[in-house]
Amino acid sequence: MFEPPRGTNDWGPEDMAKRRFVESRFVQLAESFGFREVATPTFESLELFTAKSGLAIVRELYAFKDQGGRDLALRPEFTASILRFYVSELRSRPKPLKLYSTGNVFRYEEPQKGRYREFFQLNAEILGGAALPSDAEVLALAIGTMRAIGLKEVRARIGNIGILRGFLPFKPDDQSVILHSLDKRNFEVLDAELVRLGRKDLSKPLRKVIGISGDTSALDEAAELLSGAARDGFEYLRDLAGLLESYGVSRSDYEFDMGVVRGLDYYTGMVFEVDSPNLGAEKQVGGGGAYSLAEVFGGERVAQTGFALGLDRLVMAADAERTIEPARALDAYVIPIGEGAQKRAVEILTSLRAAGLGVDIDLVGRGPSKNLDYANAIGARYAILLGERELKAGRATVRDMARGEQRDVALDTLVETIRGA
Ligand code: HAM
Repeated sequence: MFEPPRGTNDWGPEDMAKRRFVESRFVQLAESFGFREVATPTFESLELFTAKSGLAIVRELYAFKDQGGRDLALRPEFTASILRFYVSELRSRPKPLKLYSTGNVFRYEEPQKGRYREFFQLNAEILGGAALPSDAEVLALAIGTMRAIGLKEVRARIGNIGILRGFLPFKPDDQSVILHSLDKRNFEVLDAELVRLGRKDLSKPLRKVIGISGDTSALDEAAELLSGAARDGFEYLRDLAGLLESYGVSRSDYEFDMGVVRGLDYYTGMVFEVDSPNLGAEKQVGGGGAYSLAEVFGGERVAQTGFALGLDRLVMAADAERTIEPARALDAYVIPIGEGAQKRAVEILTSLRAAGLGVDIDLVGRGPSKNLDYANAIGARYAILLGERELKAGRATVRDMARGEQRDVALDTLVETIRGA
């Protein structure tokens, strides 16, 4: 017996129905916002991911050499691939570009509930818009997706990493180390690094500022702590709140949180994370923000912002809140009775399917009563029993599986009977 590799999952039909439900709500909403779908390869050259983050990222990747000796990696996210695609092929298109993708991504992580090595993301990016309206638009799509799935217990935390970067008078690499230590709340590393950089005095305000969260008054508190620096960054968040209100995103859907630092190195401005409190340790269902990657890949500077929702976690949250609508049941199951009925039954099956109905047929050659048991087990709404004599008379027996009632109907009214009843 083989097992799936550590940190991966098989998804059965019931799981997939739930996953498609959640995914389709995202796709519908993204399309209604004017986003269009793009797809990029599942693996990329390793350099695409190390270009911004350095070689340290390799231990978090599925990196390998192919038979031609090329250094490759399975994608750990969509953003880098989409920006590569943008810089090489899409950059002359009218801006802004609003792109979404869904699919599997891979990270070499310690697996646990809700944390896998292969997982799935719903991803959206806006490239080349103005910063503020684009940030508001991605936040509205991220929060709106959760509402469209029916989730009630959703809370976004919105920060601005630009403020922290502005407060750190170091070169980008050193900033990254500091930001990582803040993201992980690893204050030992934070202090050691600040000592190395000769700015131990920043430790206290930094620790304090990442603890500040709440409504706009939290922004005042944080601004005071940073003694007037980064006024623009706080003003930006206030303006964002104003726009979100116009989107119908209510104040109870989010809070400001100066502690949102994000684990990825490319963020430069507004950053956010969304939690579903029902999920325990791995409760973060999504995250994103404004970033700068096009420049790293040789493109010109444009505003870039986006997010990814973790599909696996969203489905767990939707399950916990029981918001998933049941998948559409099979409309009918066709039961030919006797050898002579087989061919005609397949013709009828084919015409029902052509009419857009979901219809299955006995592939085993069971007797009628076993077949009715099977129709019941697979959740068919109707069973259509076709005996040789009935067929000759142009008729069929239709059984309503839930009610247990049978009717004799003319074959030429079968579609309406199944569809309408
Ligand atoms: P991220 O925060 O690394 O952002 O991932 C987004 C979401 O993917 C997380 O909030 C979480 O729900 C889910 N996720 C992450 N790791 C795992 C895992 N091991 N197992 C299950 N789910 C997981 C990004 O990936 C950015 N590319 C988002 C972005 C797009 N920023 C700008 N544009």
